[in-house]
Amino acid sequence: MGDRTGQPTTAGWPGQVADWLELKDRALDVAAEGVTIADARQPDRPLIYVNEGFERMTGYPVAQVLGRNCRFLQGPDSDANAVAEIRAALREHRECVVEILNYRKDSTTFWNRLSITPVRDSSGEVTHFIGIQSDVTARRLAEDSLRRSKAALEQDLKLAARVQQALLPPPEVEVGGLRIAHAFHPCDDLAGDGVGIVPLPDNRLGLYVLDVSGHGVGAALLSFTLTHLLSPTVEGALLTDGTGAAPTVLAPSRVAERLNRQFPMDRTRQYFTLVYGVIEQTTGRFQYVMAGHPAPVLLRRGDPPVPVAGVGLPIGMMDEAEFTDESLTLEPGDRLYLYTDGVIEALDAAEEEFGHARLLDEIARWRDQPLRTGLDLVAKAVRAWCGDSLKDDVSLLAVERR
Ligand SMILES: Cc1cc2nc3c(=O)[nH]c(=O)nc-3n(C[C@H](O)[C@H](O)[C@H](O)COP(=O)(O)O)c2cc1C
Repeated sequence: MGDRTGQPTTAGWPGQVADWLELKDRALDVAAEGVTIADARQPDRPLIYVNEGFERMTGYPVAQVLGRNCRFLQGPDSDANAVAEIRAALREHRECVVEILNYRKDSTTFWNRLSITPVRDSSGEVTHFIGIQSDVTARRLAEDSLRRSKAALEQDLKLAARVQQALLPPPEVEVGGLRIAHAFHPCDDLAGDGVGIVPLPDNRLGLYVLDVSGHGVGAALLSFTLTHLLSPTVEGALLTDGTGAAPTVLAPSRVAERLNRQFPMDRTRQYFTLVYGVIEQTTGRFQYVMAGHPAPVLLRRGDPPVPVAGVGLPIGMMDEAEFTDESLTLEPGDRLYLYTDGVIEALDAAEEEFGHARLLDEIARWRDQPLRTGLDLVAKAVRAWCGDSLKDDVSLLAVERR
């Protein structure tokens, strides 16, 4: 071999052999990796060869490293566990691969992906160790920065989720002769579903459940916006007509039309389904509109639960979509359940949907429970159906006339 090993040179060797060895030497030197050989039979395993790649990577010239143990590359921030792993592997004569922070001659650091392999002679005795050093600093830095961005993003999402939770109505409210409860189970931090209870003039309440298409931040942003637009803090501006002293409550179909104009899909890239209704506290009359949304379930006292009538396109899907008002009257003891498709489309392990029939069964099953408890039990059944791993938000809102 050449003089980088500190061993005899090829001078005086037969021509072809010398050429061949020098070619190998040059091949090792052009490699970007460091290649090192330590003598296993000498005390403290000194280096007997390093290639040029090692010199370039560490800044140490060959003359300063031959005869030394390679631990001179370590420094205060080199991980003691990684060093212990190398030590054990060398002692047990097995291969090892570790990533360890090393120090160049100029004291700057780099991440070294070090692999060490024992070399045996014909009798099986370990005579040398070959080390391959790769500088993986760029990859480590990229990973670190990715990890930091991910943590920051997760933090942001958690914060946004808290804001979203804060915008929800209280879990149960009693207004006039009505009791209203909801259950809201986002499948991720942020939900594309929205539920709301909005006080309106003339002893009326607006109730809605909506579901923005897709998931993630985009869906949640639209859901936030809608929740705000439909919120009591803007005094139901979108839900009423006229200004000044006596705003009148808009028919639900008009509200759907307004939303449809305001959120066309070609602008938002999303559509949403909605059931929105206005209930009169004193009479229990509920006028509602359905926009691509699963039909609410009516549970009359003493009767089995049934889906209510109504159809309509999702909001945003078609410019000139028309929406129709439907109505029903809740008698004392009656309940009405609004929900998103995450309830009926929840999949079990065999990909079977929870479905309408099971929803009706669950609603009937808990009819004697207080409204809120019953609603939570229905939501619990849905969660249990999909082994607690929701693929879509699950939201329910129920109203009972007392
Ligand atoms: C061939 C060979 C190459 C090595 N290369 C490196 C290296 O690039 N960086 C490093 O931190 N340790 C390297 N080591 C490990 C150290 O030399 C030493 O074995 C390790 O620190 C564990 O032993 P110690 O606890 O006695 O220090 C290498 C070891 C061998 C045998």
